[in-house]
Amino acid sequence: MSEERKIPRHVAIILDGNGRWAKLRHLPRSMGHREGCKTVEQTVYDAGSLGIEYLTVYGFSTENWKRSEEEVAALMKLLERYLLEALDTMVQDRVKMCFFGDLSRLSPRLQELTNQIKELSKTFEGVQVNVCLNYGGRDEIVQAARAYAARCAAGEARPEDLTEEGFSGLLYSAGIPDPDLIIRTAGEQRLSNFLLWQCAYSEFYYTDVLWPDFTPQDMDRAIADFNHRTRRFGGVV
Ligand code: IPE
Ligand code: IPE
Ligand code: MG
Repeated sequence: MSEERKIPRHVAIILDGNGRWAKLRHLPRSMGHREGCKTVEQTVYDAGSLGIEYLTVYGFSTENWKRSEEEVAALMKLLERYLLEALDTMVQDRVKMCFFGDLSRLSPRLQELTNQIKELSKTFEGVQVNVCLNYGGRDEIVQAARAYAARCAAGEARPEDLTEEGFSGLLYSAGIPDPDLIIRTAGEQRLSNFLLWQCAYSEFYYTDVLWPDFTPQDMDRAIADFNHRTRRFGGVV
């Protein structure tokens, strides 16, 4: 069966459970995030070997600013370290990295790093990793609506000409196929404002595994489960 399995083109992950992982070990939450970062690195590598074309990871939501200043600072620090490492290794790994979200709220240093990485890797042919930072699905839709409204106001477009495809092209995910499979770890079964537009026909896979414990075997399980789904897209199979 493993030879014939279908590999989803686009896998998106709501990585959850870093805090619980740390709590179980009586460690600060930041240690859970540190381990979670290592799992992201491993998963990117794994996705490349599996032949997944697009991997979208939810790193920081528009709602995550509600967390303590200390936790947000720790997350930003880890992000910087992760991006610096990626900058070092990406030429060799050929990973193409993109960013979804309103990056203007990140520090100038992080904005510079994300720009540098995007530019450096834009022609790389390996797995495309979309890192969602200060990302919210509703925010993304509002930004797109504003962009189209501005075009209409400028006389460059007409409301009645807007199509679903046209609207998709205004989102952070422009040009990227919708996720085939959305994985959420740590037992929660909700989207938490992730890819609200793009998930219309995604398959969902939930696991109790906490994100720092997520292994390539867990990815294999998710893909095996995906292989048992019948996707109809509203039609009849
Ligand atoms: C996911 O782990 C990482 C982020 C949301 C940044 P959490 O920090 O949400 O972990 P739990 O849900 O508290 O266990
Ligand atoms: C979703 O996880 C956001 C990210 C994975 C970055 P949360 O832990 O923030 O979601 P809720 O609060 O449990 O819905
Ligand atoms: Mg959580």
